[in-house]
Amino acid sequence: MNSLSNQEWLDQVYDKLLVKMKAECDRVGSMIPCTPKDGRYEDLDAAGGISGWTNGFWPGMLWQMYEATGDESYKAAAQKIDERLEEALQEFETLGHDVGFMYIPSSVANYRKTGDKCAYRRALHAATILAGRYNPTGRFIRAWNHRISVLDIRDDVSGLIIIDCMINLPLLYWASKETGDSRFAQIAVNHAKTAQQYIVRDDGSTNHMADFDSATGEFLSNPGGQGYGVGSCWSRGLSWAIYGFALSYRYTGDESFLATAKKCAHYAIASLAVNDWLPLVDYRAPEEPVKYDSTAGMATACGLLEIAEHVGDLEKKLYIEAAFRILRACDAKFNNWNPDEDAIVGYGTMFYHDDYNMGTHVPIIYGDYYLVEAILRLKGKALQIW
Ligand code: GLY
Repeated sequence: MNSLSNQEWLDQVYDKLLVKMKAECDRVGSMIPCTPKDGRYEDLDAAGGISGWTNGFWPGMLWQMYEATGDESYKAAAQKIDERLEEALQEFETLGHDVGFMYIPSSVANYRKTGDKCAYRRALHAATILAGRYNPTGRFIRAWNHRISVLDIRDDVSGLIIIDCMINLPLLYWASKETGDSRFAQIAVNHAKTAQQYIVRDDGSTNHMADFDSATGEFLSNPGGQGYGVGSCWSRGLSWAIYGFALSYRYTGDESFLATAKKCAHYAIASLAVNDWLPLVDYRAPEEPVKYDSTAGMATACGLLEIAEHVGDLEKKLYIEAAFRILRACDAKFNNWNPDEDAIVGYGTMFYHDDYNMGTHVPIIYGDYYLVEAILRLKGKALQIW
């Protein structure tokens, strides 16, 4: 790490971010990108087309930059993308629980910034789709519609939940607040309690998944998921737990959610501290091959900064300093600030076992989204998106 103070580093990175994001916005505009090819984003290149779970991240970056700078070109591009995402709601049977990842940084953000009625309807429509996935017997939100063939899971995924859903829950908290109907938040709280019991381990590490009998609600097993395997700790999943439980605390005031977020944060901090603050894809994988997932680092940093907002003054430093260490270590090794090329954070990895050939050590849009959010949070310029 270089000799700059955290504040000096932050100011330099913020200046680079302003240049890079302006250039990207001019080139990318209202496309919906995921991973660049030869330094250039393409439209709708994520798996799932218009229903792809990553489609909210570029508009989320644009709303964040609009909040920070007031530059209308960010807002104009983000609004066009939000309108494009209407199409996915019309094909709603293709959507899974990730409507939160999709519509919170697009439609909810749009509504928060502009009061746009169509954005409000899209966000509420997405919330009703998410609520419709609730299993009242098992008290959980079903994750996917179909088995993902490369994962070692049962064909029947009607009782499968994954830790990622913790980031979808703010859509339900938002819907309850907007409509005055507490059912959305009740579903969110019940799901969070189930995830807390069956996905988070006592030491603060996480499983990716929990599988239930969808008819009886009986817990069956914890399959391996996107990490190394059964019993491992997929780092991006851990980041969803850190940030997601902290957000559930923000919206409910339930202290157990904050305690879970902190427990998961401590496991992540310990795992990162013994690896130069660089996020491996899985914190319980063999030493070789070395596989990084920068996106886990960016999302973890945001989760730590969220926790820092909810703890006492003497506790804050642990979380803020750890966030800086991750961001600075990743910046030194992974980031591309060349404004002529799309994407900033390199070395993102989608699955530990890349049987889909979807991406290992590549820039992925959600790595950039969480980088932008973290930098703007630290600068005091971020939009409260989730
Ligand atoms: N939500 C899916 C992932 O993190 O890969």
